[in-house]
Amino acid sequence: MPIEWVRVHDLPDYVYFNHSAHVSRGIGCKSCHGRVDKMAVVFQVERLSMGWCLDCHRDPEQHLRPRQWVTRMDWHPAPDEQLEQGKQLRDEYNINPSTDCSTCHR
Ligand code: HEC
Ligand code: HEC
Ligand code: HEC
Repeated sequence: MPIEWVRVHDLPDYVYFNHSAHVSRGIGCKSCHGRVDKMAVVFQVERLSMGWCLDCHRDPEQHLRPRQWVTRMDWHPAPDEQLEQGKQLRDEYNINPSTDCSTCHR
């Protein structure tokens, strides 16, 4: 018998979301799901509200990491280097998240 999937993270149907647009651009699972590896039972760490999406779309430097580490739960930048490294990665990957309504509401 397959294990029944209990959804924890569930956006309303009128929101368009795409994982690959994020993980292929250097946003780690942990930025949105937290330390899932340390959870006995998965729970929602972030609000998943529109404001939460937009905060990062306006300021992605705070969250970018080298693409090869997107699934590494314990990855973190050297102390105080997130912003500097985030800016470099933003240039290198040419990242420009959209804040147009139609990006997330189609
Ligand atoms: C930018 C934020 C973001 C990143 C990065 C991200 N996710 Fe998600 N994830 C979400 C959101 C939002 C949902 C809910 C989507 C929906 O309801 O359509 C979700 C849903 C899921 C679900 C279904 C969860 C459930 O409760 O049923 C899984 C599994 C998942 N993500 C795994 C991952 C993995 C593994 C990674 C890294 C490789 C990852 N996600 C990266 C935001 C993110
Ligand atoms: C932690 C940072 C972060 C969070 C949180 C986040 N995003 Fe993003 N999002 C990005 C980045 C970075 C990109 C890639 C931008 C680029 O390619 O220039 C992106 C791209 C996207 C795209 C693809 C746009 C396109 O042109 O194809 C969609 C759709 C999107 N995000 C929706 C969402 C939604 C909906 C949420 C909230 C549920 C969300 N994002 C939360 C960082 C984030
Ligand atoms: C980066 C993604 C993103 C963008 C860009 C975005 N939204 Fe949203 N929006 C969301 C998400 C996610 C939700 C669902 C929030 C929730 O479930 O609490 C939402 C919810 C909404 C709602 C329902 C609010 C409610 O209280 O029920 C409206 C209306 C809305 N958005 C309008 C807009 C308008 C207008 C724009 C452009 C100015 C916009 N959105 C841009 C992600 C986005």
